[in-house]
Amino acid sequence: MKKLIAGNWKMNGSLAANEVLLAGIKAGLATVESPCDVAVCIPGIYMPQVQTLLANSGVAWGAQDVSAHESGAYTGETSGAMLREFACRYALVGHSERRQYHGESDAAVAAKAQRALAFGITPIVCVGESLAERESGETMTVVKRQLAAVIHAVGHCVSEVVVAYEPVWAIGTGRTASPEQAQEVHAVLRAQLVAASTRGQGPRILYGGSMNAANAADLLGQPDIDGGLIGGASLKVPDFLSIIAAASLIR
Ligand code: PGA
Repeated sequence: MKKLIAGNWKMNGSLAANEVLLAGIKAGLATVESPCDVAVCIPGIYMPQVQTLLANSGVAWGAQDVSAHESGAYTGETSGAMLREFACRYALVGHSERRQYHGESDAAVAAKAQRALAFGITPIVCVGESLAERESGETMTVVKRQLAAVIHAVGHCVSEVVVAYEPVWAIGTGRTASPEQAQEVHAVLRAQLVAASTRGQGPRILYGGSMNAANAADLLGQPDIDGGLIGGASLKVPDFLSIIAAASLIR
């Protein structure tokens, strides 16, 4: 299976900066032999610009959130149908910053994943434990609970999602999970996904949390790490391209 490298721009960018960043990524990608799958998850307001800039580039684009509702009186939200109008391929759901700052529960995240699938958008479902949870030995319980909510909501369609394991203590901190720590959690998630899905290995499981040019190859070399969700390093052309290059070499 090809690896997937997805950038998460978070609340960064501008019309001018996006143009420079995407031009750099497209130019670099053209030099990579049989590249992995690549996507950027962008602030929704830039969807029309990014759709134009990435047309026929081989780079997909995604949102960072999607409403659990179809349409109606939900001020500030964006529906899956609206995202689809801009050929949006992915939507992050349940990123830890959404869970933490917007109080998104496991059930709310599951409803968003279900709604995204209904509109033909692949949800990238983020799960991960806090530092306190890791230190008290609850990592597996927490990530399995977060994933179980999504499996409960989407059933066999779980084969159609992407899962991202992002330990909260590793996000934006420069403190990465070791390849062994990440693999240990990925193997548990894999077993849970295989049991719930109708297709062989189940969906792709990405690792996220301070993945960068220096540590990408080791993380991506683990048997159950199928790609990366990249925050800070996805905003720097050389760093993002190095991660893509590393991912493209491993099948
Ligand atoms: P980071 O962010 O790579 O900057 O740690 C990852 C994420 O939050 O998706």
